[in-house]
Amino acid sequence: MLSPKEFIDDAIQKIKDQIGDEKAIIALSGGVDSSVCSVLVQKAIGDNLTAVFVDHGLLREGEVEQVTNTFKDRLNFKFIDASDEFMDQLAGVEDPEEKRKIIGRVFIEVFEREAIKSGAKFLVQGTIAPDWIESDGKIKSHHNLALPSGMELELCEPIRDLYKDEVREIGDELDLPKTTVYRQPFPGPGLGVRVIGDLTRENVEICRKANKIVCDEVEKAGLDEEVWQYFAVLTDSKATGVKGDQRDFGYLVIVRIVNSVDAMTAYVPQLPWEVVQTISKRITSEISEVTHVALSISDKPPATIEFC
Ligand code: XMP
Repeated sequence: MLSPKEFIDDAIQKIKDQIGDEKAIIALSGGVDSSVCSVLVQKAIGDNLTAVFVDHGLLREGEVEQVTNTFKDRLNFKFIDASDEFMDQLAGVEDPEEKRKIIGRVFIEVFEREAIKSGAKFLVQGTIAPDWIESDGKIKSHHNLALPSGMELELCEPIRDLYKDEVREIGDELDLPKTTVYRQPFPGPGLGVRVIGDLTRENVEICRKANKIVCDEVEKAGLDEEVWQYFAVLTDSKATGVKGDQRDFGYLVIVRIVNSVDAMTAYVPQLPWEVVQTISKRITSEISEVTHVALSISDKPPATIEFC
């Protein structure tokens, strides 16, 4: 078992051996896996690595600034605001699987343009052990990925033998900020899987504001170190409410707070009631479009963690 420092030295040497003087590219999400990979590869090949951070318009509040500030001076960092491209393609799409497919397809289109511009021969990916153990059970050392343009990229997966807790140890050793190393999992399609029904800019913004309130209150109560994921979902259901002395007909928001070890199963922990109440009160008073807040109490299975 290598120490974090030994792992880092070993990984840097292996990356140098694999990539040499060629160029590489990574899609950096700001999560711990892609962040650790980006920094390891930067240490090995310097600015021959381009780290591309794509805003699909479905990121959380403050996320663009947070990721940009963390990495702009550490990496050859490229921020792409592709939010219009994503939101235009998603307009009017309600089916969850269709949304996921569109987000995936547009992401590849955006990323491919950057890969061509960068002249990359290698694609760095933050694959970790559970990703491939579950999907194929085999160790693949060198394999390629063909982009729709026909461009072939050789995969470089520096942390594919690590588990999440080990990736976090490496992140700490690399001096990444705690907000990056201990960031809660956030799905690639972002808030796109947390808005049920039509994905408009307005709906995404309601979900974003509600999500911020959940995060603020969970973190203020110190619960973020105890729970796995905590977020808000905007439903397409409406409920009658009364705000001031006016009747209102607004959205139902669902708060989901779950505990898990590996996301394969999850349970809803007992929560301090005052935190739940504060979240509910803040959402209905600070977001005019919302009249009703519900707390999800379903474990996984039978529910999944995300709603879409
Ligand atoms: P579910 O909803 O399947 O989620 O119980 C399990 C874990 O995976 C995350 N998740 C995703 N992560 N791309 C990702 O990178 C996705 O499309 C995606 N869908 C779900 C989810 O947040 C949870 O941690």
